[in-house]
Amino acid sequence: MEKINNILSLFKLDGEKAIVTGGGRGLGRAISIALAEAGADVAIVDKLTEEVKETVSIIEKFGRKVIAIKADVCKEEEVKKSVQIVIREFGKIDILVCNAGIVSWIPAEEMTLEEWQKLMDVNLNGVFLYCKWVGQEMIKKKKGSIINVSSMSAYIVNVPQKQCHYNASKAAVVQLTKSLAVEWAPYNVRVNVVCPGYIMTPLLKEADNKLLDEWTSISPQKRIADPSELKGIFVFLASQAASYFTGSAIIADGGYTLW
Ligand SMILES: NC(=O)c1ccc[n+]([C@@H]2O[C@H](COP(=O)([O-])OP(=O)(O)OC[C@H]3O[C@@H](n4cnc5c(N)ncnc54)[C@H](O)[C@@H]3O)[C@@H](O)[C@H]2O)c1
Repeated sequence: MEKINNILSLFKLDGEKAIVTGGGRGLGRAISIALAEAGADVAIVDKLTEEVKETVSIIEKFGRKVIAIKADVCKEEEVKKSVQIVIREFGKIDILVCNAGIVSWIPAEEMTLEEWQKLMDVNLNGVFLYCKWVGQEMIKKKKGSIINVSSMSAYIVNVPQKQCHYNASKAAVVQLTKSLAVEWAPYNVRVNVVCPGYIMTPLLKEADNKLLDEWTSISPQKRIADPSELKGIFVFLASQAASYFTGSAIIADGGYTLW
């Protein structure tokens, strides 16, 4: 007979240690808060400082340990050092969320190689570097959950803005995730990816109202998500409730990619 467990206990992250890149604001802030609410101690890595202080003070209210580390996800030395700091402070890393990302809108025929590379550096190389350095620690402990942040742009071409580099970077993050899931399954390290639709973060607030209206009208739910609506999927993937999930790409877009 199946043992009766409290299903909700599988979602708890008590005693777990997490790193969230780009956790200072936007979606990364919501993810950091969600993991802390579920019981984890959280290390936030970001280039920003003021925004990170605000995230830290919100998390402290839950009585969790939280540390802020200033690092650029594109610079391998800074990535490596930040991972060492987290190991020193927390003793281990159970959860990694590679969330830091940027966007710019430039027609392909006008895009310079520098513009292409700058975006790839953050959105793809930054994800690879954190997966590599944190993955080494998780492999040693034979335990870990990595959640990368891609986008629905991995699957569709957004309109009307032109962002071929962004779309390509996000598609690459999905395939990187699947490759790591296979490589690291023998070490009990799960690697999944979340592909959100439009979320009202500081990144999106920079868009003009005409664009926001256009995206809203295309969306089946006729709205843009609040970052808090994505919290559940990150807690789920981080937790034991998702023990059979690896290499999964979860589209969370209010139905945007359905038509
Ligand atoms: N907002 C959306 O509509 C949307 C939709 C799909 C996917 N996403 C993805 O979600 C993630 C978070 O986006 P957001 O909307 O919260 O953006 P945001 O700009 O509001 O926040 C991004 C955070 O990443 C940090 N960051 C950027 N470059 C960095 C670097 N080189 N090193 C360290 N930190 C860096 C920023 O300082 C910031 O705190 C991104 O990967 C983005 O592509 C966002």
